[in-house]
Amino acid sequence: MSRNVLVTGGAGYIGSHVCVELMQQGHQVVVIDNLDNGSPVALQRVEQITGKRLRFIQADVRDQVAVQSALVEHGVDAVIHFAALKAVGESVARPLAYYDNNLNGAISLLRAMQGAGVTDLVFSSSATVYGDPRSNPISEDFPLRATNPYGRSKLMIEDMLRDLGAAEPNWNISILRYFNPAGAHPSGLIGEHPSGVPNNLMPYIAQTASGLRDCLAVFGDDYPTRDGTGVRDYIHVVDLARGHLSALARLAQHPGVIIHNLGTGTGYSVLEIVAAFERACGMPIPYRMESRRPGDIAECFADPSLARAELGWSAQLDLAAMCADSWRWQQANPQGYPDPS
Ligand code: NAD
Ligand code: UFG
Repeated sequence: MSRNVLVTGGAGYIGSHVCVELMQQGHQVVVIDNLDNGSPVALQRVEQITGKRLRFIQADVRDQVAVQSALVEHGVDAVIHFAALKAVGESVARPLAYYDNNLNGAISLLRAMQGAGVTDLVFSSSATVYGDPRSNPISEDFPLRATNPYGRSKLMIEDMLRDLGAAEPNWNISILRYFNPAGAHPSGLIGEHPSGVPNNLMPYIAQTASGLRDCLAVFGDDYPTRDGTGVRDYIHVVDLARGHLSALARLAQHPGVIIHNLGTGTGYSVLEIVAAFERACGMPIPYRMESRRPGDIAECFADPSLARAELGWSAQLDLAAMCADSWRWQQANPQGYPDPS
């Protein structure tokens, strides 16, 4: 079934990859993005990859009138909501900016959807809602406890969506809890270029390989893991994007509120990621050990079996593909997307 899908935050890292998959599967795409952390060039490249056109509206999701008129004007029948601020450390320093953007953005979007009679939604949540898990792998019924304003904003939106689904059973809402997105589109045309110094491991390594950074700081070698460094479940952004299409197809069957982990089920340590990236780029990645980063946990990986059973989705791309694709994107776009002007 071809759908008219509004993608909020579609000019960003994950959203642009989801636009590609949607358009390749024959869906019509409307993007709303305020370009706070996205680029119009990403959208041009989505069109280049797919050979199809999308509609772009530069607006803030907190502008309820703009969102509602986009929903009505373009006959939208489902929304995928990515637009958010996402840096954990920054959320500790600027909590009000995070609650304003993420919470008010979600409320405004939901009101606009109500006004336009659109009730199918896929929401980007995060494994951060599990806090420091009691064990691994993590399944969806684990206790939820966010430990920073970013995580709390995700958890509050999850709660809001569960309440909305209970009050208005005509809504169909998919909450997707991403583990660690990594990699880039295999074309090398779209990917992630964090502004400033990258917080996340994979972009930091890619920038070190390309000579933009001198040396990777490995945050902690005394965790109770196989080599002492932190273990995470890295998932290829193309696999992640495909998970959204599986969720969208499930929503068409009117399931109410559904929650799924999107992860591979395999954890890799920081040093294993470094070694895999070295194989992909064919050169050594200089690194040094530093003390633990405050707020980090030792280990976190998904039990992805519910998504396999209920969505018919599982990750197909391995760590070698994540590193190869990340490196291809980095080499082709060392400074990220060019200035659109
Ligand atoms: P991103 O910053 O690349 O993309 C977000 C996009 O939303 C950007 O293009 C930005 O300009 C836009 N945006 C932000 N606030 C907006 C607003 N108020 N109105 C309109 N547009 C707005 O981030 P991403 O990595 O693609 O993340 C997408 C979603 O996935 C976010 O909700 C994030 O919290 C969630 N998520 C990301 C990760 C990750 O590691 N990348 C992990 C878990 C969850
Ligand atoms: N790390 C380093 N050096 C760096 C960056 C990271 O050693 O320069 C280590 C971290 O200590 C951790 C691992 O690499 O052990 C992964 O760190 P990331 O910052 O890449 O990812 P996190 O797991 O800390 O957090 C990410 C997102 C969060 C999201 C979470 C769960 O940044 O928003 O995954 O999905 F909530």
